[in-house]
Amino acid sequence: MRAGNLQLDTYGRLKHFLAIEGLSRSLLIQILDNAERFAPLGDRAVKKVPLLRGKTVANLFFEPSTRTRTTFDLAAKRLSADVLNLNIEASSTKKGESLADTLRNLEAMQCDMFVVRHQTSGAADFIARQVAPHISVINGGDGRHEHPTQAMLDVFTIRRLKQRFDRLKVAIVGDVAHSRVARSEIHALRILGVPEIRVVGPKTLIPPAIEAMGVQAFHTLEAGIKGVDVVMMLRLQQERMQSALLPSAHEYFREYGLTPARLKLAHKYAIVMHPGPINRGVEIDSAVADGVQSVILQQVTYGIAVRMAVMAMVMGTQALSGSDVDSH
Ligand code: NCD
Repeated sequence: MRAGNLQLDTYGRLKHFLAIEGLSRSLLIQILDNAERFAPLGDRAVKKVPLLRGKTVANLFFEPSTRTRTTFDLAAKRLSADVLNLNIEASSTKKGESLADTLRNLEAMQCDMFVVRHQTSGAADFIARQVAPHISVINGGDGRHEHPTQAMLDVFTIRRLKQRFDRLKVAIVGDVAHSRVARSEIHALRILGVPEIRVVGPKTLIPPAIEAMGVQAFHTLEAGIKGVDVVMMLRLQQERMQSALLPSAHEYFREYGLTPARLKLAHKYAIVMHPGPINRGVEIDSAVADGVQSVILQQVTYGIAVRMAVMAMVMGTQALSGSDVDSH
């Protein structure tokens, strides 16, 4: 996939946001810095800026989603864009319309941006190659490939709480094999210079070739989270498993569930993250999910600012000076 090139215009600016792989450190930092400018907006009485006034954003979700779809929706609205939310599963494709025809119709409605979630890896990239040249495409998660805005909101959360990346130990725990979040995350953490990235889980859920991505694999939770600064939990993506790769949810919790006792093995000030949806009692104990080290709901809040930053950047209207964000 040549996503790294397809995403940038001839001046090296972000045109589409399809994958973390292939992006530069300076571009990721630019997204994080722009998101910092948008973050305080959520605490104001009027949570809007006019940066995307007159633009039309279509949220095309071919796969169910709550957090990602609603935070993209809020982000677009806080930028003053008009938003169409299409639940494609329930609409035209069910009536036999091809994806290309759905796209042509949305183009005819003069949309400026598509946010795409799809069960097939490579779908966002495919759509970016199909659309009219003025349209930008943002990947909201494609199969097991990438979920780049999730990775950006995760590294935004890490930067806010840990300040810097260059001394961190991060453990990604659970179903790495089926996780687009883990793939995007590993790329983002590497590009930003995190020196120690671990993946932790049973052999059936950790791809054997993963170490080629520059991470260390661990097969016990105790060894995997020892001394880490960030514990990033993943859901078991049962809907993407071809066959039974696990004994049972109960058994999984016994071996890999993050309990308060196990969390003590991580650094004293370690933070616990999860992209959601969380499965209490499967990968994470309620006492940890709701505990003082959990930043799971902060991730959701920061996701709005990060998505605003990405949407503004692909439309070429990032808040370069303070005035766009600060004076409204
Ligand atoms: C993730 C996804 O859909 O890839 N969730 C999310 O976007 N917040 C992870 C998951 O489904 O477990």
